[in-house]
Amino acid sequence: MTKGNAFVLGGSGQVGRAAVRALVADGWEVTAASRGGARDERWPEEVRTLRLDRTEEGALAAGLGDGCDVLVDIVAYGGGHGRQLTGLADRIGSAVVVSSGAVYEDEEGRSFDTQDRPDGFPAFPVPTREDWRTVAPGDTSYSTRKIALERELLAAGDALPTTLLRAGAIHGPFCPGPRELWFVKRALDGRPVRVLAYGGTSRFHPAHVDNLAELVRLAAAKPGSRVLNGADPEAPTVAEIGAEIDAVLGVRSEFVLMEGEPAETVGLTPWTAPHPIVYDMTAAERELGYRPVVSYAESLPETVAWLTAHLADRDWREAFPGLAKYGVDFFDYAAEDAWLKTRG
Ligand SMILES: NC(=O)c1ccc[n+]([C@@H]2O[C@H](COP(=O)([O-])OP(=O)(O)OC[C@H]3O[C@@H](n4cnc5c(N)ncnc54)[C@H](OP(=O)(O)O)[C@@H]3O)[C@@H](O)[C@H]2O)c1
Repeated sequence: MTKGNAFVLGGSGQVGRAAVRALVADGWEVTAASRGGARDERWPEEVRTLRLDRTEEGALAAGLGDGCDVLVDIVAYGGGHGRQLTGLADRIGSAVVVSSGAVYEDEEGRSFDTQDRPDGFPAFPVPTREDWRTVAPGDTSYSTRKIALERELLAAGDALPTTLLRAGAIHGPFCPGPRELWFVKRALDGRPVRVLAYGGTSRFHPAHVDNLAELVRLAAAKPGSRVLNGADPEAPTVAEIGAEIDAVLGVRSEFVLMEGEPAETVGLTPWTAPHPIVYDMTAAERELGYRPVVSYAESLPETVAWLTAHLADRDWREAFPGLAKYGVDFFDYAAEDAWLKTRG
């Protein structure tokens, strides 16, 4: 007896690989779909892979065939993708869809969309609950599209019970844009210092792929229309993350803590922000019985080993396009050295 058929759209990505593993282990018959149709070597043989591009007319419908008991959609980005799923509701028992914590907006209307403006970074309650206010749905940004996706799917109600997971800063093996590289590469390059803005206190709640996969597994077994945050049991500061990564790599470095904001790229990490981003996980605990399967520190050795091997001798932008897309040179050592010199 299996639990049923699970169809994972985006199965070969960092979250998909972990979600497929968790679902198979829980007794689901899993199809992992992606454009390339890649499979993870840790998946058991019975996982079926499928090449499918969701943007091609009719491709998802054809891929679903007679349908599935649960659809896990990891690469849904807007109202259009929401309608794509609701349009197939007669063939999908329930859905679990990855959204983002980027949908939240603070009391002054600031969100990730305003972060590049002067004083534009949002100040959220710590921790932020799912019933906190969000940006308005639209088609103008990643955040507005994600909330449009959420609204579309929640409006379907019982026709397509959907759990939306608002993920934090995702990390783990196969990450296309690993924030951890900021520390890992410095350690590998023998840099003696870690310069951190805002006194190293920035916090951007991480979400390990295995914890997200656990949320997927639990939500798949308990369909419902709901929104849940998806994050790790702890939200370490950037200085704590750096110390943990140094420890994994067996290096010691000096942490130079800048007061206030970065000096252009100096002190700027992918977690750096003037206000903390911490997600409340009590709703997932209450509604799904969620218990995290791994802590940030426990997960690091595997991630660091994967990052190091994947980077190899390549340019970091080539190895990690998901980090390069920010358009920031996170490894401008010349600027860092020049700034350090000005301190005497
Ligand atoms: N990174 C973060 O910190 C963060 C934070 C919050 C939320 N999120 C959300 O996390 C999700 C991304 O998950 P991830 O990090 O696991 O992504 P990922 O590692 O980039 O993997 C994406 C997966 O989707 C497949 N794919 C991409 N386009 C497709 C298409 N048109 N049709 C079918 N398959 C397609 C990819 O394989 P092919 O290339 O072979 O198609 C791959 O399997 C997004 O919903 C994002 O908004 C990310």
